[in-house]
Amino acid sequence: MSKLWGGRFTKDTNKLVEELTASISFDQKLANEDIQGSLAHVQMLGECGIISPDDANKIKAGLHTVKSKLDNGELEYSVAHEDIHMNIEQFLIDEIGPVGGKLHTGRSRNDQVATDMHLYLKNNTNDIIQLIADVQAAILAQAEANIETMIPGYTHLQRAQPVSFAHHVMAYYWMMERDKQRLIDSLDRVNILPLGSGAMAGTTFPIDRERVAELLGFDDIYPNSMDAVSDRDFILEFLSAASIMMMHISRLSEELVVWSSEEFSFVELDDSFCTGSSIMPQKKNPDVPELLRAKTGRVYGNLLGLLTVLKGLPLAYNKDMQEDKEGMFDTVETLVGSLKMLAPMIETMTVNKETMRNAVTQDYSNATDIADYLVTKGMPFRDAHEMIGKIVLYAIDKKKYLLELSLEEYQTFSPLFLEDIYTVLTPEQVVGQRNSYGGTSPNQVKKQIQLAKENSAQSTVEK
Ligand code: ARG
Repeated sequence: MSKLWGGRFTKDTNKLVEELTASISFDQKLANEDIQGSLAHVQMLGECGIISPDDANKIKAGLHTVKSKLDNGELEYSVAHEDIHMNIEQFLIDEIGPVGGKLHTGRSRNDQVATDMHLYLKNNTNDIIQLIADVQAAILAQAEANIETMIPGYTHLQRAQPVSFAHHVMAYYWMMERDKQRLIDSLDRVNILPLGSGAMAGTTFPIDRERVAELLGFDDIYPNSMDAVSDRDFILEFLSAASIMMMHISRLSEELVVWSSEEFSFVELDDSFCTGSSIMPQKKNPDVPELLRAKTGRVYGNLLGLLTVLKGLPLAYNKDMQEDKEGMFDTVETLVGSLKMLAPMIETMTVNKETMRNAVTQDYSNATDIADYLVTKGMPFRDAHEMIGKIVLYAIDKKKYLLELSLEEYQTFSPLFLEDIYTVLTPEQVVGQRNSYGGTSPNQVKKQIQLAKENSAQSTVEK
């Protein structure tokens, strides 16, 4: 098959080379963006008198026909035409004849592909931002229903201090808020137009890049043609933000796996989000959070892959850069899929309030509160810490929890203990007293939820 660049060649391309260099099997995902970019380019070419208005109109009509034929599955991509750009250009020429060959005036595939990638990421980042907001809404709903629900708080996965379940899940709300903000912020670097940079040095034609930026909705234009065609930092930024977000999703997933185990039984995932075992009839497996946890690996891999592809490249474009696509597509799909799954899974999970409440009464996680009690009576914290350690040891030996020790027993350790010690020991008291800003008391958690609600109302207004 003849190539769009065939003039300089005397031999056909080796079949294996065709297969190795072709990207059409994956970059066909950019078809819409490619046509969108071409429509803006040809409009500008016509307006600037670089091609005649009549030719511009023919090309525009031809591109629209190609688009609808592609949408209807009437056209077949060919490996011989290598990538999405040359496939579409060939479809256009097949459709409207040699005039279609004027589309590529003042343009190169190098600025074209960079433009497609910017457009693709712009659209998809906006969709992902919305999906994060949906997960946040699901978290918020669970939090609101569980302000007074107590759960053991852990450090080192050892019981530390009881907390409100709402407080625990709201921690993920704020992580996702920063994930969302990182993506919103990254749009500043995605919203820049590379088109008009040519192969690397600009073009001899009197093009109007501002007009193309306006037509495509870009806020800015790359001021350096070599930078524009050879950097992919906007994709790296997306992949970094995605990696951090998947790390958060993975930690939350890990908690859901642990919490839904028989040993914890803090939550139960809805049947529709679990799977069974082919051999053990009793099993209800948390495959969904397990897979979300695991998919984090491929997103990290995509980030590391592209960082490595780019690190040794001299300016400007190198074919190596064609390897920027699959990881980006895969990351978008992984994120979209994970976020879509997460929201309803959180929404539909059952919170076993009783089990959680029982758990917090059967531990020594109120020990800090007894130390704080002695401090309010004048004992230095370090001495109080030492003394409570001894009381915990004594209680473990007597097989009692701290709430079950008598006042006489407390007083054998210190005369500072009075009847009011029992007002700081129940989980409700322990949680309620952590009333510092950002703490777990219901009071503070309500404030936090209020702040989150104002926050999401504000980001809806911004859109
Ligand atoms: N398919 C190529 C890519 O994705 C498009 C740019 C090719 N440019 C070139 N001069 N080979 O990077």
